[in-house]
Amino acid sequence: MKIIVANWKMNSSVNFVHEFVKSINEIKTQNKVVVCPPFPLIGHFADFKHHVGAQNCFYEKSGQYTGEISPSLLCELGVKYVIIGHSERRNVFWETNEDVYKKWIAAIDNKLIPIVCIGEKSEQRTTWRDALHVQMKLFESCDLRDSIFAYEPVWSIGTGFVPTVDEIENVSKFIKDSINCRWLLYGGSVNASNIEHIIKCSNIDGVLVGGASLKTKEFADIILKSE
Ligand code: PGA
Repeated sequence: MKIIVANWKMNSSVNFVHEFVKSINEIKTQNKVVVCPPFPLIGHFADFKHHVGAQNCFYEKSGQYTGEISPSLLCELGVKYVIIGHSERRNVFWETNEDVYKKWIAAIDNKLIPIVCIGEKSEQRTTWRDALHVQMKLFESCDLRDSIFAYEPVWSIGTGFVPTVDEIENVSKFIKDSINCRWLLYGGSVNASNIEHIIKCSNIDGVLVGGASLKTKEFADIILKSE
């Protein structure tokens, strides 16, 4: 069983959800499929046969935090998964490793399954071990049985550039040797043409798909080719 996560980012619409739900519901798969739409679309997945996740949450329970969403409210909406520390949150909204860690605790406390994203920037390509080490440090002695991690090299996100299979094998082994995580996804320019190579990597348990998850037919192919 592989985990296939769609990250729609700030894209899509109510109409698209209806089309997407109808066609992805028709797929027969052993894989776990999780779709993370923008918050206002979460309520439109009532007929979805798979899982719904959120793209972010805050670490406080409630209060004066305009624009933020609490993990407990996500649970009330039937959300089971939450992406935490995506590179766009880290780089555009200045989320720190401490923020990511606090969000992870809040997610676990609320029985949400966190999908924690880590990955090196393009200028860190030769020093990726150091970059990942800094991002993983707070998780080194944590119980990660109920957590998913996603290795997403920032230089690969939305660019069409994908690391080689050997590079993914190398990095994923390093991550699994450093933290005790059971589930590790790969993310960054995953599409229907490269999925078969990526999913064969021995330490990769699934993928986090951005752009290609907004094309229903292509996303369906990704799910089927990951079997
Ligand atoms: P991409 O995005 O598949 O469009 O590269 C992946 C992600 O940011 O999670």
